[in-house]
Amino acid sequence: MAAAGSAVGLGNIWGFPTQTASNGGAAFVLVYLVLAFCLAYPAFMAELLIGRYGQANAVTSLQKISRNLFHQRFAFVVGFGGIVCAALILSFYGILAGWMMSYAVEPFSRLLGLQATADWVVNQSLARNLLFCALFMFLTIFIIRRGVEEGIEKWSKRLMPLLIVLLIILISYVITLEGAQEGLNAYLNPDFSRVLEPNLLISALGQAFFSLSLGTSVMVIYGSYISKKENLVTLGAQVTLIDVSIAFLAGLLIIPSMYVAQAQGVAIFAADGSLISGSSLVFTVLPSLFNSMGSIGLYVGLAFFILMSVAALTSSISMLEGPVSYAVERHQVERKKVTTYIGIGIFILSAIIIANISFMLDFVAVLATQYGQPIIAMLCCIFVGWIWFRNDILTELKQGNDMVEHSLFWKIWPWYTKFVCPTAIAIVFWHSL
Ligand code: PHE
Repeated sequence: MAAAGSAVGLGNIWGFPTQTASNGGAAFVLVYLVLAFCLAYPAFMAELLIGRYGQANAVTSLQKISRNLFHQRFAFVVGFGGIVCAALILSFYGILAGWMMSYAVEPFSRLLGLQATADWVVNQSLARNLLFCALFMFLTIFIIRRGVEEGIEKWSKRLMPLLIVLLIILISYVITLEGAQEGLNAYLNPDFSRVLEPNLLISALGQAFFSLSLGTSVMVIYGSYISKKENLVTLGAQVTLIDVSIAFLAGLLIIPSMYVAQAQGVAIFAADGSLISGSSLVFTVLPSLFNSMGSIGLYVGLAFFILMSVAALTSSISMLEGPVSYAVERHQVERKKVTTYIGIGIFILSAIIIANISFMLDFVAVLATQYGQPIIAMLCCIFVGWIWFRNDILTELKQGNDMVEHSLFWKIWPWYTKFVCPTAIAIVFWHSL
């Protein structure tokens, strides 16, 4: 559940629909689904398996499967690269999650009759961005100081089904509204001529890896926390399925909502005919949908943005856990102290991004998610395919799953991770360059 909590987050509900809208709708959805199942899932299994075998942070785990000094150095670069990537992602993720929290405070303030507060919290200002980002980082640090324990799993277990139920209710409502049909069409009817567009491919790849939290050391460390009795193959498949389904549902809500909003006179296209910029899409379209529901909309908005903030929190804690577990295990520093220091360090980076938001937000996001994550995940596949002893891989796979030997996964996956994953990721890059 913690791994699912890490995977499900803003990437599903904010990233995926936004990317879909700006990359031609259904063609993007199609490519995304193919890449998520055919590339991200096998790479996800590689990271989980490395972690469970190594029983430690990303660098140590990769070093345990290394065979010589050169591999060990390579392991350090890949593992540490993932940790840096996680920290970079957290620095911009905290800003967006802060916005989600501010949109939860807005209906709450209105319910209390605090109109001025309600207006202030949804107004793009330096002070509001800093305040909510700080608040979100504080919560993340607070949880990680205590460690990824019971509490998080319980939260994820109870709140994730609630998020799914709310999404389904909202979708059922939206599709009855005027304009929704056009939105459904844009979401589900692919223009096949677009599927090989370089920009679309690289965005879909980045989005799929982002959504499964790959290439960030997160799934390696979570893998190390999974008991040897668990069946990793089904566990990984379940997490992938939950993750992809929630993204798909979010798209089913947000893309039709865009067209509904347009039918109601809300501007969703900029002056030059392109869609309004990514970050404002969700924050323009959803509040206008909640408003259209009358007085109940306030409560729906409140519930939605609270659940979103929690989903973001179960992802952000996993990002902080990567660097923290590395520091604790490798440098024997005290967990509580180092969590606070690293958290504050990342918040300072967030503050720099907030001060230069117009160009830095996109820059850091693209750097970490479209380049960093797929490259590091590809290197992890190379580790599994080319460096790790095949017998050790198979022994680890068999832990908690005696029947795996008879499965298709067993026959295909080791070979697939060795040849297909690295090549396919490299081809997408080459194509996009
Ligand atoms: N997968 C998370 C989401 O979709 C984001 C994430 C990326 C979490 C990298 C951890 C590491 O929101």
